[in-house]
Amino acid sequence: MQAIVYNTKGPAAEVLQLVERARPEPGPGEVRVALAFSGVNPSDVKSRAGTASSQLSYSEVIPHSDGAGVIDAVGAGVDAGRIGQRVWLYNAQWERAHGTAAQAVVLPSAQAVALPDDVGLEVGASVGIPRMTAFHAVARCGSLLGRTVLVTGGAGAVGAYAVQLAQRAGARVIATISSLQKADRARALGAAETVNYKEEDLVARVRELSGGQGVDALIDVDAAGHAPLYGSLIREGGRAVIYGSNKPQFQLGFGPMILGGITLDFFIVYKLRDAALRETVEGVSLLLRQQLQHPPLSIYPLAECAAAHQQVERGADAKVLLKL
Ligand SMILES: NC(=O)c1ccc[n+]([C@@H]2O[C@H](COP(=O)([O-])OP(=O)(O)OC[C@H]3O[C@@H](n4cnc5c(N)ncnc54)[C@H](OP(=O)(O)O)[C@@H]3O)[C@@H](O)[C@H]2O)c1
Repeated sequence: MQAIVYNTKGPAAEVLQLVERARPEPGPGEVRVALAFSGVNPSDVKSRAGTASSQLSYSEVIPHSDGAGVIDAVGAGVDAGRIGQRVWLYNAQWERAHGTAAQAVVLPSAQAVALPDDVGLEVGASVGIPRMTAFHAVARCGSLLGRTVLVTGGAGAVGAYAVQLAQRAGARVIATISSLQKADRARALGAAETVNYKEEDLVARVRELSGGQGVDALIDVDAAGHAPLYGSLIREGGRAVIYGSNKPQFQLGFGPMILGGITLDFFIVYKLRDAALRETVEGVSLLLRQQLQHPPLSIYPLAECAAAHQQVERGADAKVLLKL
């Protein structure tokens, strides 16, 4: 089969190689998926670039955790009735060497989740990280009925789903964006208000839009950018649910945080376990049957994986996929 691999970390065009590899065979409890699409996410790109760590845990990595395709073989202990099933995948390359940038992947049966017949495989390859993250972030906010939620980066991959899910949960959503076009998109997704964080005074506008109190919850794409402002953006007893940061360190004002009794709540979707993982996978599956809006697609052939990574690095403004 054809696959993209890297065996050292570095710039996409230098380290990603198109190679031939033997088609993998599923072991006990595993399925093999003939992939139709591989989803590219910022974390795949950061792992390959060596942003968090320059160490490679495996001698060779096939990147990407998200993907969709059809099960074409099962290992011992897996119902043979799964052969032929269309599936979406999660965590394919989390703590594993081989992800979805290949014509086939082998992974534990539970990580290949049935995709409804009327949902496209390109949608299936788009939902793993972005929609699981948004679903879980909104769930961590607790009941949102009648609450006000600030979603930073409301037109991004995770942010766009978070806006839709928070609005459906009964929240009044304020989204931050950086252009008129993104403001229109966030409003079409369900944001009641938008704030251009590059042009407006974020704190002043959010406090004005929340009756001078601050929001009940903030779903944050950039902790380094916003943590110094949490005490002003979030009302007393509120919560920041944090899934991203543009820098590795951030500062907090002790006084506003302790006086406001504000909770900081971090999570990484790869490490959801047990009940939270089950709920998130089931939630994302149920949502596949609803009419959520998806970002525009930007699809590359496998051989152009480096260009796909570069688009994500630039700030994709689209869901970037590889077509297998
Ligand atoms: N914890 C987890 O499990 C988890 C899961 C998924 C993603 N992530 C992380 O979350 C981040 C976003 O992922 P994504 O897939 O949604 O990426 P994406 O599609 O590129 O979206 C990122 C969005 O964030 C916006 N943004 C960036 N800095 C901002 C700031 N300071 N204020 C307001 N908006 C800001 C960008 O908007 P503008 O271009 O308009 O600035 C863009 O719309 C990445 O760092 C990723 O690694 C974490």
